[in-house]
Amino acid sequence: MIRSRIAGVGHYVPSRVVTNDDLSKLMETSDEWIQERTGIKERRYAEKHKETTTTMGASAAKIAIDRAGIQKEDIDFIIFATLSPDYYFPGCGVLVQRALGITGTEVGCLDIRQQCTGFVYAISIADQFIRTGTYKNILVIGSEMHSMGLDYSDQGRNVTVIFGDGAGAAVLQPTTKPGQGILTTRLHADGTHAEELAFISPGSHGGYYGNVEEYGFPEVENGEIFVYQGLIDKKGYYPNMNGPLVFKTAVVKFPEVIQEAMDDIGVETKDIDMLIPHQANLRISQFVQKKLCLPDEKVWNNIQKYGNTTAASIPIALCEAWEAGKINEGDLVCLAAFGSGFTWGSALIRW
Ligand code: UT7
Repeated sequence: MIRSRIAGVGHYVPSRVVTNDDLSKLMETSDEWIQERTGIKERRYAEKHKETTTTMGASAAKIAIDRAGIQKEDIDFIIFATLSPDYYFPGCGVLVQRALGITGTEVGCLDIRQQCTGFVYAISIADQFIRTGTYKNILVIGSEMHSMGLDYSDQGRNVTVIFGDGAGAAVLQPTTKPGQGILTTRLHADGTHAEELAFISPGSHGGYYGNVEEYGFPEVENGEIFVYQGLIDKKGYYPNMNGPLVFKTAVVKFPEVIQEAMDDIGVETKDIDMLIPHQANLRISQFVQKKLCLPDEKVWNNIQKYGNTTAASIPIALCEAWEAGKINEGDLVCLAAFGSGFTWGSALIRW
Protein backbone atom coordinates (compact mmCIF):
# COMPACT_ATOMS: atom_id res chain seq x y z
CA MET A 1 0.00 0.00 0.00
CA ILE A 2 1.35 3.43 -0.94
CA ARG A 3 1.13 6.25 1.58
CA SER A 4 2.79 9.67 1.68
CA ARG A 5 5.52 10.51 4.11
CA ILE A 6 7.03 13.87 4.89
CA ALA A 7 10.58 13.40 3.65
CA GLY A 8 11.92 16.88 4.44
CA VAL A 9 10.82 20.04 6.21
CA GLY A 10 12.17 23.58 6.16
CA HIS A 11 11.22 26.99 7.45
CA TYR A 12 12.20 30.60 7.05
CA VAL A 13 11.37 33.65 9.15
CA PRO A 14 12.51 37.20 8.40
CA SER A 15 15.23 38.61 10.65
CA ARG A 16 13.28 41.72 11.70
CA VAL A 17 11.80 41.22 15.16
CA VAL A 18 8.80 43.38 16.08
CA THR A 19 7.98 43.36 19.78
CA ASN A 20 4.69 44.19 21.47
CA ASP A 21 6.31 47.40 22.71
CA ASP A 22 7.13 48.32 19.10
CA LEU A 23 3.44 47.98 18.22
CA SER A 24 2.34 49.98 21.24
CA LYS A 25 4.18 52.96 19.72
CA LEU A 26 1.85 52.77 16.70
CA MET A 27 -1.47 51.97 18.35
CA GLU A 28 -3.21 51.91 21.70
CA THR A 29 -2.11 48.53 22.98
CA SER A 30 0.36 47.07 25.48
CA ASP A 31 2.73 44.17 25.96
CA GLU A 32 0.65 43.12 28.95
CA TRP A 33 -2.63 43.01 26.98
CA ILE A 34 -1.15 41.11 24.06
CA GLN A 35 0.67 38.53 26.19
CA GLU A 36 -2.26 37.97 28.51
CA ARG A 37 -4.81 37.46 25.69
CA THR A 38 -2.64 35.69 23.10
CA GLY A 39 0.71 34.61 24.58
CA ILE A 40 2.52 36.51 21.80
CA LYS A 41 5.74 38.34 22.77
CA GLU A 42 7.04 39.23 19.34
CA ARG A 43 6.63 38.47 15.65
CA ARG A 44 8.75 38.79 12.50
CA TYR A 45 8.14 41.27 9.68
CA ALA A 46 9.54 40.79 6.19
CA GLU A 47 11.78 43.40 4.65
CA LYS A 48 9.60 45.41 2.28
CA HIS A 49 10.60 45.42 -1.40
CA LYS A 50 13.12 42.64 -0.78
CA GLU A 51 11.15 39.81 0.78
CA THR A 52 7.78 38.57 -0.36
CA THR A 53 5.52 35.62 0.33
CA THR A 54 7.22 33.86 -2.59
CA THR A 55 10.82 34.59 -1.59
CA MET A 56 10.17 33.38 1.96
CA GLY A 57 8.43 30.27 0.62
CA ALA A 58 11.38 29.60 -1.70
CA SER A 59 13.86 29.86 1.21
CA ALA A 60 11.87 27.34 3.25
CA ALA A 61 11.46 25.09 0.19
CA LYS A 62 15.21 24.92 -0.50
CA ILE A 63 15.81 23.53 3.00
CA ALA A 64 12.97 21.01 2.71
CA ILE A 65 14.22 19.81 -0.70
CA ASP A 66 17.74 19.44 0.63
CA ARG A 67 16.58 17.50 3.68
CA ALA A 68 14.46 15.22 1.50
CA GLY A 69 17.70 14.26 -0.23
CA ILE A 70 16.51 15.23 -3.69
CA GLN A 71 17.36 17.85 -6.31
CA LYS A 72 14.95 20.67 -7.11
CA GLU A 73 14.49 19.12 -10.58
CA ASP A 74 12.99 16.04 -8.90
CA ILE A 75 9.98 18.05 -7.70
CA ASP A 76 7.04 16.98 -9.84
CA PHE A 77 4.24 19.11 -8.36
CA ILE A 78 3.96 22.25 -6.23
CA ILE A 79 1.15 23.25 -3.88
CA PHE A 80 1.30 26.74 -2.38
CA ALA A 81 -1.01 27.85 0.43
CA THR A 82 -1.28 31.52 1.32
CA LEU A 83 -3.78 34.29 2.00
CA SER A 84 -1.21 37.00 1.32
CA PRO A 85 0.08 36.32 -2.20
CA ASP A 86 2.56 38.52 -4.05
CA TYR A 87 -0.04 39.24 -6.74
CA TYR A 88 -3.81 38.99 -6.98
CA PHE A 89 -2.98 36.64 -9.85
CA PRO A 90 -1.05 34.61 -10.87
CA GLY A 91 -0.58 32.82 -7.58
CA CYS A 92 2.62 32.10 -5.70
CA GLY A 93 2.89 28.54 -7.08
CA VAL A 94 4.31 29.62 -10.44
CA LEU A 95 6.35 32.38 -8.80
CA VAL A 96 8.06 29.95 -6.45
CA GLN A 97 8.64 27.50 -9.31
CA ARG A 98 10.48 30.33 -11.10
CA ALA A 99 12.28 31.48 -7.95
CA LEU A 100 13.57 27.96 -7.36
CA GLY A 101 14.68 27.70 -10.97
CA ILE A 102 12.63 24.63 -11.82
CA THR A 103 10.74 26.06 -14.77
CA GLY A 104 12.50 23.67 -17.19
CA THR A 105 10.49 20.69 -16.00
CA GLU A 106 7.20 22.57 -16.42
CA VAL A 107 5.69 20.91 -13.35
CA GLY A 108 2.14 21.79 -12.33
CA CYS A 109 1.61 24.44 -9.64
CA LEU A 110 -1.53 24.63 -7.54
CA ASP A 111 -2.43 27.61 -5.36
CA ILE A 112 -4.80 27.16 -2.49
CA ARG A 113 -6.15 29.48 0.17
CA GLN A 114 -7.92 28.00 3.18
CA GLN A 115 -6.07 30.54 5.34
CA CYS A 116 -5.00 29.06 8.70
CA THR A 117 -6.03 25.58 7.53
CA GLY A 118 -4.08 25.97 4.28
CA PHE A 119 -1.22 23.62 5.12
CA VAL A 120 -3.50 20.80 6.32
CA TYR A 121 -5.60 21.09 3.14
CA ALA A 122 -2.41 21.23 1.06
CA ILE A 123 -0.87 18.05 2.44
CA SER A 124 -4.21 16.30 2.13
CA ILE A 125 -4.29 17.17 -1.59
CA ALA A 126 -0.66 16.12 -2.01
CA ASP A 127 -1.43 12.85 -0.22
CA GLN A 128 -4.14 11.98 -2.76
CA PHE A 129 -1.76 12.53 -5.69
CA ILE A 130 0.93 10.39 -4.08
CA ARG A 131 -1.36 7.53 -3.07
CA THR A 132 -2.61 7.26 -6.63
CA GLY A 133 0.95 7.18 -7.94
CA THR A 134 0.52 10.43 -9.91
CA TYR A 135 3.49 12.26 -8.35
CA LYS A 136 6.56 11.26 -6.34
CA ASN A 137 8.03 14.47 -4.93
CA ILE A 138 5.45 17.09 -4.07
CA LEU A 139 6.60 20.40 -2.66
CA VAL A 140 4.06 21.87 -0.25
CA ILE A 141 4.55 25.44 0.97
CA GLY A 142 2.70 27.63 3.46
CA SER A 143 3.93 31.22 3.43
CA GLU A 144 2.54 34.56 4.58
CA MET A 145 3.50 38.21 4.54
CA HIS A 146 0.84 39.78 6.73
CA SER A 147 2.83 42.87 7.61
CA MET A 148 2.13 44.42 4.21
CA GLY A 149 -1.62 44.70 4.75
CA LEU A 150 -2.42 45.29 8.39
CA ASP A 151 -4.22 48.28 9.91
CA TYR A 152 -1.69 49.88 12.25
CA SER A 153 -4.25 52.32 13.69
CA ASP A 154 -6.21 51.68 16.91
CA GLN A 155 -9.11 50.39 14.82
CA GLY A 156 -7.12 47.39 13.62
CA ARG A 157 -5.36 46.53 16.86
CA ASN A 158 -7.30 43.33 17.64
CA VAL A 159 -6.09 41.84 14.33
CA THR A 160 -2.72 43.50 13.84
CA VAL A 161 -1.11 42.44 17.10
CA ILE A 162 -1.75 38.77 16.32
CA PHE A 163 -0.21 38.27 12.88
CA GLY A 164 3.37 37.78 11.72
CA ASP A 165 5.33 36.81 8.61
CA GLY A 166 7.14 33.57 7.77
CA ALA A 167 7.16 30.41 5.69
CA GLY A 168 7.35 26.66 6.06
CA ALA A 169 7.67 23.87 3.52
CA ALA A 170 7.60 20.10 3.23
CA VAL A 171 8.43 17.53 0.57
CA LEU A 172 6.03 14.60 0.39
CA GLN A 173 7.13 11.28 -1.09
CA PRO A 174 5.60 7.81 -1.38
CA THR A 175 6.37 5.19 1.24
CA THR A 176 5.46 1.51 1.34
CA LYS A 177 6.84 0.93 4.83
CA PRO A 178 3.94 -0.62 6.79
CA GLY A 179 2.19 1.86 9.04
CA GLN A 180 4.32 4.84 7.97
CA GLY A 181 3.14 8.13 6.49
CA ILE A 182 -0.03 10.19 6.46
CA LEU A 183 -2.63 7.88 8.01
CA THR A 184 -5.62 10.19 7.68
CA THR A 185 -6.62 13.77 6.97
CA ARG A 186 -9.97 15.33 7.84
CA LEU A 187 -11.07 18.58 6.19
CA HIS A 188 -14.04 20.79 7.06
CA ALA A 189 -15.57 24.17 6.34
CA ASP A 190 -18.64 26.22 7.21
CA GLY A 191 -19.13 29.32 5.09
CA THR A 192 -21.85 30.68 7.38
CA HIS A 193 -19.27 32.89 9.08
CA ALA A 194 -17.16 33.76 6.03
CA GLU A 195 -17.04 37.50 6.78
CA GLU A 196 -16.25 37.10 10.49
CA LEU A 197 -12.55 36.71 9.71
CA ALA A 198 -11.96 38.19 6.31
CA PHE A 199 -10.14 40.58 4.04
CA ILE A 200 -12.98 41.44 1.71
CA SER A 201 -11.90 44.25 -0.57
CA PRO A 202 -11.16 44.69 -3.35
CA GLY A 203 -13.34 41.92 -4.70
CA SER A 204 -16.05 41.08 -7.20
CA HIS A 205 -18.68 42.02 -4.63
CA GLY A 206 -18.13 45.58 -5.87
CA GLY A 207 -15.43 46.96 -3.67
CA TYR A 208 -17.69 48.42 -1.02
CA TYR A 209 -17.90 47.06 2.48
CA GLY A 210 -21.39 45.81 3.27
CA ASN A 211 -24.48 46.01 1.10
CA VAL A 212 -25.51 48.36 -1.67
CA GLU A 213 -28.53 49.74 0.23
CA GLU A 214 -26.33 50.81 3.09
CA TYR A 215 -23.34 52.16 1.21
CA GLY A 216 -24.57 52.79 -2.33
CA PHE A 217 -22.94 51.83 -5.60
CA PRO A 218 -19.36 52.84 -6.26
CA GLU A 219 -19.17 56.23 -7.95
CA VAL A 220 -17.36 56.89 -11.17
CA GLU A 221 -15.34 60.06 -11.32
CA ASN A 222 -13.94 61.40 -14.57
CA GLY A 223 -15.20 58.28 -16.22
CA GLU A 224 -12.58 56.05 -14.67
CA ILE A 225 -11.80 56.56 -11.00
CA PHE A 226 -13.97 54.60 -8.60
CA VAL A 227 -14.57 56.01 -5.15
CA TYR A 228 -15.69 53.37 -2.70
CA GLN A 229 -16.67 55.60 0.17
CA GLY A 230 -18.13 52.77 2.22
CA LEU A 231 -14.94 50.83 1.79
CA ILE A 232 -12.82 53.75 2.88
CA ASP A 233 -15.02 54.57 5.88
CA LYS A 234 -15.17 50.99 7.06
CA LYS A 235 -11.60 50.11 6.17
CA GLY A 236 -12.77 47.08 4.21
CA TYR A 237 -9.34 46.90 2.64
CA TYR A 238 -7.89 45.57 5.89
CA PRO A 239 -8.49 42.20 7.51
CA ASN A 240 -11.27 42.25 10.07
CA MET A 241 -12.05 39.67 12.71
CA ASN A 242 -14.75 38.87 15.17
CA GLY A 243 -12.17 37.61 17.66
CA PRO A 244 -14.50 36.26 20.35
CA LEU A 245 -16.52 34.25 17.78
CA VAL A 246 -13.35 32.84 16.21
CA PHE A 247 -12.04 31.92 19.65
CA LYS A 248 -15.29 30.26 20.77
CA THR A 249 -15.62 28.24 17.58
CA ALA A 250 -11.94 27.25 17.45
CA VAL A 251 -11.92 25.69 20.91
CA VAL A 252 -14.82 23.45 19.87
CA LYS A 253 -13.61 22.55 16.37
CA PHE A 254 -9.95 21.80 17.22
CA PRO A 255 -10.69 18.93 19.65
CA GLU A 256 -13.58 17.72 17.48
CA VAL A 257 -11.50 17.35 14.31
CA ILE A 258 -8.58 15.76 16.19
CA GLN A 259 -10.99 13.22 17.71
CA GLU A 260 -12.41 12.54 14.26
CA ALA A 261 -8.93 11.71 12.90
CA MET A 262 -8.15 9.51 15.90
CA ASP A 263 -11.43 7.61 15.48
CA ASP A 264 -10.65 7.19 11.80
CA ILE A 265 -7.51 5.16 12.48
CA GLY A 266 -8.43 3.78 15.89
CA VAL A 267 -5.97 5.58 18.18
CA GLU A 268 -6.40 7.54 21.42
CA THR A 269 -4.86 10.77 22.66
CA LYS A 270 -2.30 8.81 24.69
CA ASP A 271 -0.94 7.49 21.37
CA ILE A 272 -0.13 10.99 20.07
CA ASP A 273 3.57 11.80 20.43
CA MET A 274 3.41 15.37 19.18
CA LEU A 275 0.52 17.76 18.55
CA ILE A 276 1.31 20.66 16.23
CA PRO A 277 -1.67 22.99 16.49
CA HIS A 278 -2.03 25.95 14.15
CA GLN A 279 -0.60 28.82 16.16
CA ALA A 280 -3.76 30.93 16.40
CA ASN A 281 -3.55 32.02 20.00
CA LEU A 282 -1.64 30.37 22.86
CA ARG A 283 -4.84 30.35 24.94
CA ILE A 284 -6.59 28.31 22.23
CA SER A 285 -3.71 25.80 22.11
CA GLN A 286 -3.69 25.53 25.89
CA PHE A 287 -7.42 24.91 25.91
CA VAL A 288 -7.07 22.14 23.31
CA GLN A 289 -4.13 20.60 25.19
CA LYS A 290 -6.16 20.51 28.40
CA LYS A 291 -9.20 19.06 26.69
CA LEU A 292 -7.07 16.25 25.21
CA CYS A 293 -5.12 15.78 28.48
CA LEU A 294 -1.78 16.06 26.69
CA PRO A 295 1.38 16.86 28.68
CA ASP A 296 3.41 19.99 27.77
CA GLU A 297 6.15 18.01 26.02
CA LYS A 298 3.64 16.65 23.51
CA VAL A 299 2.42 20.03 22.25
CA TRP A 300 4.57 22.39 20.18
CA ASN A 301 3.91 26.11 20.62
CA ASN A 302 5.98 28.90 19.11
CA ILE A 303 3.38 31.66 18.75
CA GLN A 304 5.28 33.52 21.48
CA LYS A 305 8.08 34.20 18.95
CA TYR A 306 6.26 34.45 15.63
CA GLY A 307 2.62 35.38 16.26
CA ASN A 308 0.02 33.81 14.01
CA THR A 309 1.50 33.12 10.55
CA THR A 310 -1.69 31.42 9.24
CA ALA A 311 -0.78 28.92 6.46
CA ALA A 312 2.88 29.01 7.52
CA SER A 313 2.32 28.34 11.20
CA ILE A 314 2.02 24.53 11.09
CA PRO A 315 5.02 23.89 8.79
CA ILE A 316 7.18 26.32 10.78
CA ALA A 317 6.22 24.61 14.04
CA LEU A 318 6.60 21.14 12.52
CA CYS A 319 10.06 22.04 11.26
CA GLU A 320 11.15 23.50 14.60
CA ALA A 321 9.89 20.46 16.50
CA TRP A 322 11.74 18.16 14.10
CA GLU A 323 14.93 20.24 14.35
CA ALA A 324 14.69 20.08 18.14
CA GLY A 325 14.67 16.26 17.92
CA LYS A 326 11.11 16.06 19.23
CA ILE A 327 9.79 14.18 16.19
CA ASN A 328 11.44 10.85 15.42
CA GLU A 329 10.78 7.88 13.18
CA GLY A 330 7.73 5.97 14.34
CA ASP A 331 6.20 8.93 16.23
CA LEU A 332 2.52 9.73 15.77
CA VAL A 333 2.27 13.41 14.85
CA CYS A 334 -1.03 15.25 14.83
CA LEU A 335 -1.56 18.49 12.88
CA ALA A 336 -4.72 20.51 13.50
CA ALA A 337 -5.93 23.89 12.31
CA PHE A 338 -8.88 26.25 12.44
CA GLY A 339 -9.35 29.63 10.80
CA SER A 340 -11.00 31.94 8.33
CA GLY A 341 -13.76 30.47 6.21
CA PHE A 342 -14.44 29.02 8.70
CA THR A 343 -12.21 26.12 7.71
CA TRP A 344 -10.66 23.48 9.91
CA GLY A 345 -8.88 20.18 9.57
CA SER A 346 -6.50 17.63 11.01
CA ALA A 347 -3.91 15.09 9.93
CA LEU A 348 -2.36 12.12 11.69
CA ILE A 349 1.07 11.14 10.44
CA ARG A 350 3.24 8.20 11.47
CA TRP A 351 6.74 9.69 11.01
O1 UT7 B 1 -6.10 31.65 13.15
C1 UT7 B 1 -7.34 32.11 13.58
C2 UT7 B 1 -7.13 33.55 13.74
N1 UT7 B 1 -7.69 34.22 14.84
C3 UT7 B 1 -7.75 33.79 16.10
O2 UT7 B 1 -7.45 32.70 16.47
C4 UT7 B 1 -8.24 34.80 17.06
C5 UT7 B 1 -9.16 34.27 18.09
N2 UT7 B 1 -9.56 35.35 19.00
C6 UT7 B 1 -8.70 35.87 19.86
O3 UT7 B 1 -7.57 35.44 19.95
C7 UT7 B 1 -9.21 36.97 20.75
O4 UT7 B 1 -10.55 37.23 20.45
C8 UT7 B 1 -8.39 38.29 20.60
C9 UT7 B 1 -7.02 38.10 21.21
C10 UT7 B 1 -8.27 38.71 19.15
C11 UT7 B 1 -9.07 39.42 21.34
O5 UT7 B 1 -9.25 39.07 22.69
P1 UT7 B 1 -10.67 39.22 23.37
O6 UT7 B 1 -10.50 38.90 24.77
O7 UT7 B 1 -11.65 38.39 22.60
O8 UT7 B 1 -10.95 40.75 23.20
P2 UT7 B 1 -12.21 41.50 22.56
O9 UT7 B 1 -12.09 41.51 21.07
O10 UT7 B 1 -13.47 40.97 23.17
O11 UT7 B 1 -11.95 42.95 23.09
C12 UT7 B 1 -11.87 43.23 24.51
C13 UT7 B 1 -11.35 44.65 24.68
C14 UT7 B 1 -12.07 45.66 23.79
O12 UT7 B 1 -12.15 46.87 24.51
P3 UT7 B 1 -13.52 47.28 25.27
O13 UT7 B 1 -14.56 47.35 24.19
O14 UT7 B 1 -13.78 46.20 26.27
O15 UT7 B 1 -13.16 48.59 25.88
C15 UT7 B 1 -11.12 45.85 22.64
O16 UT7 B 1 -11.26 47.10 22.03
O17 UT7 B 1 -9.96 44.69 24.30
C16 UT7 B 1 -9.78 45.75 23.34
N3 UT7 B 1 -8.70 45.39 22.47
C17 UT7 B 1 -7.42 45.71 22.72
N4 UT7 B 1 -6.84 46.39 23.72
C18 UT7 B 1 -5.51 46.52 23.69
C19 UT7 B 1 -8.76 44.67 21.30
N5 UT7 B 1 -7.51 44.54 20.81
C20 UT7 B 1 -6.67 45.17 21.66
C21 UT7 B 1 -5.27 45.36 21.68
N6 UT7 B 1 -4.74 46.05 22.72
N7 UT7 B 1 -4.47 44.87 20.73
